[in-house]
Parts: sequence; structure tokens; C-alpha cells
Amino acid sequence: MTAQLIPTLSSNLNLNKLPQHVAVIMDGNGRWAKQRGLPRIEGHRRGANTLKEMLRYCKDLKIKTLTAYAFSTENWGRPTAEVDFLMTLFERLLQKELKEMEAERVCINFIGDLSPLPPSLQQEMHRSMERTKNNRDIYFNVAINYGSRHEMVKACRKIAEKVQQGKISATDIDENMIAQHLYTSSSPDPDLLIRTSGEMRLSNFLLWQLAYTEIYVTDTLWPDFNHEQFEQALESFQQRDRRFGKKVG
Ligand code: FPP
Repeated sequence: MTAQLIPTLSSNLNLNKLPQHVAVIMDGNGRWAKQRGLPRIEGHRRGANTLKEMLRYCKDLKIKTLTAYAFSTENWGRPTAEVDFLMTLFERLLQKELKEMEAERVCINFIGDLSPLPPSLQQEMHRSMERTKNNRDIYFNVAINYGSRHEMVKACRKIAEKVQQGKISATDIDENMIAQHLYTSSSPDPDLLIRTSGEMRLSNFLLWQLAYTEIYVTDTLWPDFNHEQFEQALESFQQRDRRFGKKVG
């Protein structure tokens, strides 16, 4: 990652009205590869580059948090060779990019149940979280083996245990307490969710946290999602009238 600013920033973009937290469902890697007669894994490789570019744009724009959905609890159902490739890709990327993330003051955090992942990958994940934990330029959350319903079940169990142990009573449970027991407890809710490749679904991603998030869906396949497309998403976000459920006027 270089420190250079986005070369051609659209004049329509209001830098004072940017989202603080952007979440992204990176869809369409497989289709991108298929369209080019390439193996699906090539789409993932290109997709990883796109994510790196996006992290750079976010940092240059001073967007504080980027959360990316890299592997869902349902993705284990893909062919073994593809799952194995993705695990190896995550591990290699972490090994390759850690130095740069440290230099660029990126704080990386993994959200999801990491325990079924290959031990060598878990080790790299813990190493990169530990080494970047004091960085403050941008928070980069990567959801791996993540499922929102599972996250909520886990939170409910932890809260129920506290009730059982008499540490809290059932009436102490409120929205804030639930949010504090989710993987994302240290991040504000996303302001903008981007989903590529045209699918109009949340796919079990951040169901609690996206309650008031603005959603932007583009037909562009993830490997083709570039800074111009990102700016279009940001411009669309800036045109939204965010009321958070309140009636205005
Ligand atoms: C969705 O496309 C993409 C994925 C399931 C994998 C995303 C992973 C990366 C981009 C690598 C990121 C790397 C790190 C370190 C976080 P798809 O396969 O569902 O595409 P399709 O819908 O066209 O089949």
C-alpha cells in the first residue's frame, strides 16, 4: 500500500459527508473467472487485490473502518479444492501483507468462529491481530467463517450464562448489551454496505449491525470493482436521507 491519494477523486464527492464504516460483500469472483475462461480460484486471487485496493481508498479518504465478508459459515459447502485454495490464499496474504499493514497503521481484526480453520492460518491471524492491535489509521475487519445468526446465538449464550451466574438480571439485557457481546463490539455499526454482482441479499452478514445501514448493490463483479465504482457508491450514499427510523418535518 502506498500513501498516495486517490488520483482522480470525483468532484461530486463531499469529503465531509463520508461514511465512517463501510462493509462489503465481495460477490462475483467465480463469475468473473468463468466469463474469462479462467478457474474460479483466479477470480479469488483478483478479488483479494480488489480488497487491498479498497482498503487503500478507504484509508486515503479517512474512512475509519472497513469490514469485508471473506468466508461465510455456508462457504464450507463449496468444492474442497476451492475451500483449500481460499484457506491457503488467506494465509499467504497475511504473511505477505503484514509488514505493509504495520507500516500503514492498519489494525486488522478477524470476526467469526476461527476455531475450525487450519491451525497454521489461525496462527497467522492471531499474529497479525497482535502485531497491528495498536494501529489506529484504519480498522480492517475480515469476516472469516462468519455467520450472523451464529454470532447472535453465541452472544445469547454468553448473556444467559451471566444471568445464570447471577451477575446480571434478565431486565439488564438491552440493545447495548447485545451489541457488546457480538464480534463487532469495538466497531460502530456500518453506515454503508456495498454488495457486488447484483445479488439483493444480506446472506447472513451482520444482520444486527446493518439495521440502519444504507445498502448499495452494483452489478459489477467484485474483481472489477475499482475506485470509480467505489466513488459512485459513496456518491449514492451521500444522496440518501438517513432518518434512522425517525420522522422528519
Ligand atoms: C465471493 O465470490 C467471494 C468469496 C467467497 C471469497 C472472497 C475472498 C477474497 C476476495 C479474498 C480476500 C482475502 C482476505 C485476506 C480477506 P463467489 O465465489 O461467490 O463468486 P460467484 O458468486 O460468482 O460464484
